[in-house]
Amino acid sequence: MATCGAVPEAGGLDIDISEDAFPFEDFVPKELGCFSMDKDRKPHINNRNKLRYLYTPPTGQGCEYKLRDGYNTFQKLDDDLEERLDNIMKWISKNKLEAKKYKDDFKLQSLNTDFVSCRGHFTKIMCTPYVKEEWKMAVTLFDGTYYISEVATEEKKAYEKNMTDKEKEMGYWGYKFEQYRTSQVDGQEPDTNLPVNNSEAFYTVVRTDLKNHSLLYSAEVDCCETSNPDLQPPFNYVEIKTNKIGRNKYKFVHPFKLLKWWAQSYLLGIPKIIAGFRSEDSIVQQADVKPYLTCNIPKIANETRKLWNPDGCMNFCDKFLKFVKDVVRRDDPKVVYIFERIKGSKTVTYKEGAAGDIFVPDWYEVKMNQNKDCV
Ligand code: A3P
Ligand code: MG
Repeated sequence: MATCGAVPEAGGLDIDISEDAFPFEDFVPKELGCFSMDKDRKPHINNRNKLRYLYTPPTGQGCEYKLRDGYNTFQKLDDDLEERLDNIMKWISKNKLEAKKYKDDFKLQSLNTDFVSCRGHFTKIMCTPYVKEEWKMAVTLFDGTYYISEVATEEKKAYEKNMTDKEKEMGYWGYKFEQYRTSQVDGQEPDTNLPVNNSEAFYTVVRTDLKNHSLLYSAEVDCCETSNPDLQPPFNYVEIKTNKIGRNKYKFVHPFKLLKWWAQSYLLGIPKIIAGFRSEDSIVQQADVKPYLTCNIPKIANETRKLWNPDGCMNFCDKFLKFVKDVVRRDDPKVVYIFERIKGSKTVTYKEGAAGDIFVPDWYEVKMNQNKDCV
């Protein structure tokens, strides 16, 4: 039977902005492994087959990218599929030693990791002090490691249910641009007549330290580039984005959109983002594709008005992770705590989860307890 945790007196975490200098030098994501998701969304552990290569058309080829093309053949990932942390858990369970190795003095009996999650969840947490967006995270402490798994809010469910056909189609445009600018074979022009599918994907698994918290997470990677052989993963990965072009072809990305681009790429150590600026009716001209260096994004976004700051993002993330460690005390895979940020709220609240919130699967518990202290 599922049980719930005994939670300390209800209280919340203030969402404030602390822009004291954050020790960025310790935040160096290291790739421990990877997995490729096939068209049936089955993970292939430590398989790099689905990693695509950045494709840059020859100069002088004034091509245009029609992002609407092929929408009627879009093979869309089922939105109702709840993968939770299952894929990174599969990676961990098959790579116990790699996962456990932390600095030189790692212990075999535990994962030697404070937090396991997905990159996207940390992106949301990092952006919290500067944006109003709501989120809900389920947290379970299992064998000394806190597992953080996002739960869809009622607002998100309602938004998805009421999306217009145009909104649904616009969700395709970004994937179509990825198809135009990435190739399965390095240097080969992509076949853009093939249907786009967003089930197949490549994920990296990285470890890093965020102040005194050790983190292990997975993240989807759009593509890599091979022009600089000195750059090893994750530093040769490239993120691809689209954005609406302004009047007179003014290439401006809203500062808060840049905040998300920055946080998402910074968490993986991705140095470069390729942005395609599209017209109202979804066409990107080759001349309107602009690369951004992730490290320059904070400066670009805050040029006219100081709206956000990377230290503020990281300090809040540190504060939230400390809060989780304070609140979640019972080490039990069947105990869940729900942390929630309501839209626009200045507080993160928490409560005990119910049996239906449990997300650590039985198979993972069994695998992690098997031959625990053996190499
Ligand atoms: P854009 O970001 O260019 O719009 P990612 O950039 O994270 O790799 O995501 C790839 C694409 O998935 C996005 O491209 C967009 O088309 C789609 N996408 C991602 N998150 C989405 C969301 N919350 N709503 C709608 N579409 C989304
Ligand atoms: Mg992308």
